[in-house]
Amino acid sequence: MTKPLEGIKIIDFTHVQAGPACTQLLAWFGADVIKVERPGSGDVTRNQLRDIPDADALYFTMLNSNKKSLTLDTKKPEGKEVLEKLIRESDVLVENFGPGALDRMGFSWERLNELNPKMIVASVKGFSDGHHYDDLKVYENVAQCAGGAASTTGFWDGPPTISAAALGDSNTGMHLAIGILTALLGRDKTGKGQKVAVSMQDSVLNLCRVKLRDQQRLERVGYLEEYPQYPHGEFGDVVPRGGNAGGGGQPGWVLKCKGWETDSNAYIYFTIQGHAWEPICHAIGKIEWIDDPAYKTAEARQPHIFEIFNTIEVWLADKTKFEAVDILRKFDIPCAPVLTMKELANDPSLRASGTIVEVPHKKRGSYLTVGSPIKFSDMKPEVTASPLLGEHTDEVLTGLGYSQQEIFNLREVKAV
Ligand code: COA
Repeated sequence: MTKPLEGIKIIDFTHVQAGPACTQLLAWFGADVIKVERPGSGDVTRNQLRDIPDADALYFTMLNSNKKSLTLDTKKPEGKEVLEKLIRESDVLVENFGPGALDRMGFSWERLNELNPKMIVASVKGFSDGHHYDDLKVYENVAQCAGGAASTTGFWDGPPTISAAALGDSNTGMHLAIGILTALLGRDKTGKGQKVAVSMQDSVLNLCRVKLRDQQRLERVGYLEEYPQYPHGEFGDVVPRGGNAGGGGQPGWVLKCKGWETDSNAYIYFTIQGHAWEPICHAIGKIEWIDDPAYKTAEARQPHIFEIFNTIEVWLADKTKFEAVDILRKFDIPCAPVLTMKELANDPSLRASGTIVEVPHKKRGSYLTVGSPIKFSDMKPEVTASPLLGEHTDEVLTGLGYSQQEIFNLREVKAV
């Protein structure tokens, strides 16, 4: 099957999560992604949190599938020479080093553009160029704090809270992938490459868009009616943490189901969609609420929304989260069980759709990973194992025109 990005050659100068998530996505869609790694050690995640001694850690294998690995010391003159050759024939270079690292290596944007004016140079940094923090190195949780996610996540009586979702890392990688694809389309029109930069702070903030909406609403009217603080609590001058409240116009909350006393995930998320009020009353056996003025409208319900949630929890007390959702779905109520990673890993629908995939690996045996969340009618992205360190060094160098003797010499000086 021909893949849309076949023929696009990408130098993958990325590490940890943000950059690798971007290039992995492009590799699934057919790009030839060559991961450039330091000889002997490679991407630091190969060694981080290993569960099998001497085998690449899941952190690495789950973010580097479908790629090739070339070991190259790009600080050595011999390594720089190889990299220059690769740059001349590649379409994209993606990097997420600390600020200034690529410049220090001798590959500034100007130099890269000189070597290959058609190449797209894509970077992830913690903060955008020119930002007063643009010298900072940044990891996931730092970005969640800098991008507004932490101050608005969690409960009002607790500290700012980090989300388990990789809003700073993988999310930024996804933004970068969109930027790269846009620049590739732009190049088709202009014949020129360009620099694409995405900061982790900006990407987090982009996902916190509705919280900036709330800040402006708060400043105008002094309260936020969908937050648990309304109407009995107090509002200050910044968007508060809203616990599990729904972020749109429909109130929602995480509700206990049968077994919650012993199972910390025996919960569902329940949404009170305005026009679904009547079906909700039917579903939970509270027909009398349908026309009761204290319950009939969203406005009337808001002051005692937690009393309503408590009543729904009484109804849920003898139902598992799965039984509850099976009943509520018949009433068209937006809801879902709170699913654990164990449940997701074994979910037959996710296996069938290719969202959870089992990948054979030379050293690990097989491992589970998340496949492409993007589905196409004419293509099924296939996930293949992440490369061993330097697995494709000979192949890539031979492709660049190096002879066996020259490759041997590069090995002798530890440039590859
Ligand atoms: N050969 C030789 N040197 C190499 C190399 C190679 N193949 N690959 C990388 N290096 C060098 C770089 O040139 C740099 O050297 P220098 O600092 O002496 O100039 C060094 O290795 C890498 O530095 P850095 O990227 O700063 O690594 P770090 O471990 O200190 O910091 C991060 C890690 C993630 C904090 C940092 O890279 C960063 O802030 N990145 C941008 C934001 C980001 O993507 N963060 C999310 C990561 S999930």
